[in-house]
Amino acid sequence: MDSIGPVGLGSRDGPQGCPPEGLPHPSDSSKVVQKCLQQFMVTKAQLQQIQDSLLDSMEQALMGHSGPMPAVRMLPTYVGSTPHGTEQGDFVVLELGATGASMRVLWVTLTGTKGRRVQPRSQEFVIPPEVMLGPGQQLFDFAAHCLAEFLEALPVGNQCLPLGFNFSFPCHQTGLDRSTLISWTKGFRCSDVEGQDVVQLLREAIKRQGTSNLDVVAMVNDTVGTMMGCDPELGPCEIGLVVDTGTNACYMEEARHVAALDEDRGRVCVSIEWGSFGDDEVLGPLLTPFDRALDQESLNPGAQRFEKMIGGLYLGELVRLVLAHLARRGILFGGCTTPALLSQGSVTLEHVAEMEDPSTGAARVLAVLQNLGLRPGPSDVELIQHVCAAVSTRSARLCAAALAAVLSRLQHSREQHTLQIAVATGGQVFERHPRFHNVLQETVMLLAPECDISFIPSVDGGGQGVAMVTAVAARLAAHRHLVEETLAPFQLDQERLASVQVQMREAMAKGLRGEASSLSMLPSYVRATPDGSERGDFLALDLGGTNFRVLLVRVAAAGVKITSQVYAIPECVAQGSGQQLFDHIVDCIMDFQQRQGLGGQSLPLGFTFSFPCKQVGLDQGILLNWTKGFNASDCEGHDVVALLREAIGRRQAVELKVVAIVNDTVGTMMSCGYEDHRCEVGLIVGTGTNACYMEELQNVAGVPGDSGHMCINMEWGAFGDDGMLDVPITCFDASVDRESINPGKQRFEKLISGMYLGEIVRHILLHLNSLGVLFRGQQTQCLQTRDIFKTKFLSEIESDSLALRQVRAILEDLGLPLTSDDALVVREVCQAVSRRAAQLCGVGVAAVVEKIRENRSLEELTVTVGVDGTLYKLHPHFSSLVAATVRELAPRCAVTFLQSEDGSGKGAALVTAVACRLAQAAQV
Ligand code: BG6
Ligand code: GLC
Ligand code: GLC
Repeated sequence: MDSIGPVGLGSRDGPQGCPPEGLPHPSDSSKVVQKCLQQFMVTKAQLQQIQDSLLDSMEQALMGHSGPMPAVRMLPTYVGSTPHGTEQGDFVVLELGATGASMRVLWVTLTGTKGRRVQPRSQEFVIPPEVMLGPGQQLFDFAAHCLAEFLEALPVGNQCLPLGFNFSFPCHQTGLDRSTLISWTKGFRCSDVEGQDVVQLLREAIKRQGTSNLDVVAMVNDTVGTMMGCDPELGPCEIGLVVDTGTNACYMEEARHVAALDEDRGRVCVSIEWGSFGDDEVLGPLLTPFDRALDQESLNPGAQRFEKMIGGLYLGELVRLVLAHLARRGILFGGCTTPALLSQGSVTLEHVAEMEDPSTGAARVLAVLQNLGLRPGPSDVELIQHVCAAVSTRSARLCAAALAAVLSRLQHSREQHTLQIAVATGGQVFERHPRFHNVLQETVMLLAPECDISFIPSVDGGGQGVAMVTAVAARLAAHRHLVEETLAPFQLDQERLASVQVQMREAMAKGLRGEASSLSMLPSYVRATPDGSERGDFLALDLGGTNFRVLLVRVAAAGVKITSQVYAIPECVAQGSGQQLFDHIVDCIMDFQQRQGLGGQSLPLGFTFSFPCKQVGLDQGILLNWTKGFNASDCEGHDVVALLREAIGRRQAVELKVVAIVNDTVGTMMSCGYEDHRCEVGLIVGTGTNACYMEELQNVAGVPGDSGHMCINMEWGAFGDDGMLDVPITCFDASVDRESINPGKQRFEKLISGMYLGEIVRHILLHLNSLGVLFRGQQTQCLQTRDIFKTKFLSEIESDSLALRQVRAILEDLGLPLTSDDALVVREVCQAVSRRAAQLCGVGVAAVVEKIRENRSLEELTVTVGVDGTLYKLHPHFSSLVAATVRELAPRCAVTFLQSEDGSGKGAALVTAVACRLAQAAQV
C-alpha cells in the first residue's frame, strides 16, 4: 500500500461520506485487510534488531558520543539510590504531561518504614487545549492556580510544603531542582519553555499566584516516580517503565559509565527518553503509511517516532487511520465515513482498550462506533477488533524490545549473565489495555530468556515515588540552608574589609609611636635593601617555618649559590627546654659543616628566626613570645643570639660568628630585593603569617636617627589580640584558638595561616556532621583527631583541575565515609575558609602599601612585595585573591608580588654580608 489517502474529509468521498462507486468483492477485501494489518506485524528478528540498535544508541549516548539529535538521550536524573522506605512527611506532587490533557495534584504522606500507608488525596484538572498550545506562562499559571485550588480544600494552614514536580518531558537536569526542558513531546507545545528551567518557571508562577507555603524542591520524570514508588519491601526495583500517552523508561546505571557525570561510584538513575529512538530513520522498514500520516499530522513531525508507535496518545489515532482507510476502500461501514471518523483524535486509547476487551465484547465495539456516527455491519465488529489488536500488539512488542535492550545493558554493565530484576510499570496503557501487559511480558521473555523479571505496578501513578524523591530533595535543601548559614560569617564584604584596613592603619601608627597596640612594629635594624655589591661566604639558619634549614650561601659577582640541608625539629624539642632546642640547633650546624667540609672555618652566620623579637641591634633579638607550634621553656624574654652563642660554647668543637638575626619576612624581603630593587615589603603566608616593610626612620619611636629607612617587622599575626579586630570570630575560630598552645594570641594569624586553616575546616566539618548534613550524620572518629585535616588538603581540594572523584579520594584516605554531595560541601567549606584568609591577608598588604605611599606623599606608588610560605605558594587561588583585594583597597598602588625562590636564609646571609661590609669599613 503506497497511500492511505487524505485523512480529513477528502474529495474522494461521496455524499454523506459514502463511496462514489460500488463496494469491492469480498475476496478482494480480505486481501486488502490482510495486507493492511500485516504491516503491523513485527518479526522476532526485527525485534532483536531494535533491541540491538537501541542498546547501541544507549551506549553511545552514555559515552557522550551522540550528536545534537541523539537517538536516545540518556539523561541523568540526580536520583542516586532506590528508596529505603525511611522517608517521612507530607508532600505535594504536581503531575504534568504524563496523562494527556490533565494535570493532577496529590497530597502524599510518607510514613517511613514502620507506618501504615496513607492513601493520598488527589484532584485532577483538565487543561484546556489552548493552554497546552499557548504561552508557557499561561500553562504554569494554570498549574499554580490548580495547586492553590487543591490546597484551599485542605487544612494546610501556614505549614510549608515541599512540592515534587512530576514533569514528563525530556529535561536536562543539573540537580534535583534544576531542570531545563529540551523539547516538548506528546500533545504539548507551549511557547517560551524549551531551553528554560521548568522548576524556576513553576516557582515564579506559584509566586504570581500568591501561594507562599509551597516550595518546589524536585523535578522528577514520570518513569523515575514510577520506579521510586515501588514498595521497597518487594526488593529493589531498578527499572521504571511507563506507557502512558507517551513511553519511556529509566534504570539504575553505574555512575562511572555516564560520561556527563563526574562520578565514579555508585549508581544513578538515567531516563532513557527512548520515545525519540528512530528519529534518525532506523525504524524505516517498520513504519507503515499510517505511522507516516500520524507523524505528519502531529505537533512534532519527524520527532518521537518510536513513541508514536507505542504511546497511548497515538494508539487510538493509528486505529482511526486504519479504520478510515478501510472504510474508504469500501471494506468497513459499507464504505461510509463520518466527519467524526475523519477527525484527528476521535478514537482514543480507551476506545481501543474497550473494543479489545473480551469481557465487554461486541456490544462495546458497537457503542464506540455508533458514537462516531458509524453504522457497523455484522462482519465489521470482528475486523475492527483485529485492527485494534494489530496496533496494540505491535505497541507491546516494540516496547518489549526496548525493555530487552535495557536488560541487556544491565547484564552488560553489571557483568551478570543472568539478571534478576524488578520492573515498575506505570501508565494508562498498562492500566487500561486488557492484553498489553501479557504481550509485553511474553515478548520480553522471548528476547531476554536469561532474565528473571518481576513486573510491579506503580503506586498512585508514580505519585508515591515522586514524594520519595521530593523528600530526599527537601532534606538536601534543608542541608543547603544549614551549609549557607554556617558559612555566612566567613563572607566579608568590601565595607568590612575596608574597615579592617582602617583599623590596621591605626594599630600600625600606634605601634610605631610605641603606644599600646596589637601590632608591635618591631625595628629590624635593617636599613637598606641589598644593592648588589655584597660578597662572601656565609652560613645561615632558618628556623620557624615548616622546615629547619642550615645553609651555606656564597654571594659572588656571578650571583648567589646556596647549599642547604633540612633538619627535623621534633615536637618534643620545639616544646621542650630552651637549652635542648639550641643544643639541637648547634648539633645540626655541626653536622652540616662536617658534610660540607667546612670544619675549622668560622664563617659569619645570619639567623632567620621567625618569631617576634625585640631587637636593639642587628645581632640582638629578645624573644617576646613564641608563636606557631613552638613553646620551648626559658627563651621568652631572652636574647636568642645569646642563647645560640651559649649553646655554641657548650659544644666547644665549633666556632661561629653570629652577625645578624632576622625575621623570615625580613629575610624574604632582602632575598627578593636582591632580584628586584623595588621590593620593599616582605610577606609570609605559611605556617604563620606576617609582613615587614621599609618605614621612614623618623616615624619609628625608640630608634635614634631621623633620616633614612628601617625595615619594620610588623608581627601582624597578633593584630586584634587587643580585641580591636572587626571581623566576625566564628565559634570554629574560637575552638581553634582555645585548643591552640597560645589561646587569645595571634588572632589575625589564626584566621589566615596554614597552621590553622585545616583546623578551622575540621571544626566546621564536625559541626555539619553533628547537624546530619555531612557523612550521613554518622559520627566520624577521625574528624575528632586534631590536625588530621592538613592545610595542604585545602590546596588540593580547591584545585580546579581536580575532579570530584579525586577530592573524594583525598577525604576517603582520611577515613571519611562520604558521598559526592559531601565532597561538594567539603570543597565549599574549604573555599569559604581560604577565601576569608586571602582577603584578610590582602587587607594587610593594602594597609602596608598605602602607608608607604602616604609616607612618601606619592600620588601613585609602584612597589614589589617579596612573598614566601607554603600556603601562598601551593594554594591554587590564594595569591590571586590577595592581589585582587589589594587592587580593590589600595587602588593607587601598583603592586607586584614576587615569590621568593630560595627562602629567607638567603636574605639572612645578605643582611650578614651588608653588616660585615659595614663592620670592615668601620675598622678601616
Ligand atoms: C621559607 C622561609 O621559605 O618560608 C622560612 O625560609 C619561612 O623562614 C617560611 O618561615 C614560611 O613558610 P612555611 O610555609 O614554611 O611556614
Ligand atoms: C515522553 C516524554 C518522557 C516521558 C514519557 C512518558 O516520552 O518525553 O519524558 O517519560 O513521555 O510519559
Ligand atoms: C609568626 C611569627 C612571625 C613570623 C610568621 C611567619 O607570626 O610570629 O615572626 O614572621 O609567623 O613565619
